[in-house]
Amino acid sequence: MEYFLDTADINKIKKINEIFPIAGVTTNPSIIAKEKRDFKLIINDIYDIIGKDKILHAQVAGNTADIIIKEVNRLRDLFGENFYTKIPVTPEGIKAMKTLSKDGHKITATGILSSQQIIMAAEAGAEYMAPYINRSDDIGESGIEIVKDAYRILTINKKSEEECLKKYKRIFEPKILGASFKNVRQVHETMLAGAKSVTVSPDVFERFIYHPYTDWSMDKFNSDWEEIYGNKNLLDLL
Ligand code: E4P
Repeated sequence: MEYFLDTADINKIKKINEIFPIAGVTTNPSIIAKEKRDFKLIINDIYDIIGKDKILHAQVAGNTADIIIKEVNRLRDLFGENFYTKIPVTPEGIKAMKTLSKDGHKITATGILSSQQIIMAAEAGAEYMAPYINRSDDIGESGIEIVKDAYRILTINKKSEEECLKKYKRIFEPKILGASFKNVRQVHETMLAGAKSVTVSPDVFERFIYHPYTDWSMDKFNSDWEEIYGNKNLLDLL
């Protein structure tokens, strides 16, 4: 399972990266714009915290395949191998993915609200496909059903390593990257539906392991221990 953090807030990335086993960070144009800073500085600051061995996803700003292709080439030159460019599943976006994937570029398809958008982006050579779970749920559709259907179709049509290498110049497994979550339950169900990756905002992220009974249990252990051993830990006793 891969957990990504969906934010460009440096302090939040620092805090969560120190504690949790995150695979990297995802951003989108709204998340970047919220920081009101230079784009390149934001990306470099994020890399300074997570390290270049982790994955960073950022979205193109162009709306035509031509511009998108140029942006992706520039981004790869600047930020290197573990940078994934998010490209929307518009006709121009799919057109760009088709060209870029033949050249081994690492692509994350975004703005996804249907299973067919996932399948089409995977066929065009995207490695990650990011369905917006809560935005689907918000209008009475089911983000989870979108993931379930797409995962099933992707599994039936799984490409061999040779096919993948021939078509996209590198070997990778297409992965559903669940996105746009408002609570932990949505994340959990998305994982059960077949998503191998999820991207989650800091506030939802911090609720993953929260449980009041865990806190209660720790308080009880601590007070029972202190009654007999005071504030000693095992290093003092062994
Ligand atoms: C994913 O690619 C998006 O950055 C994000 O998850 C959208 O989340 P939102 O619907 O909460 O804005």
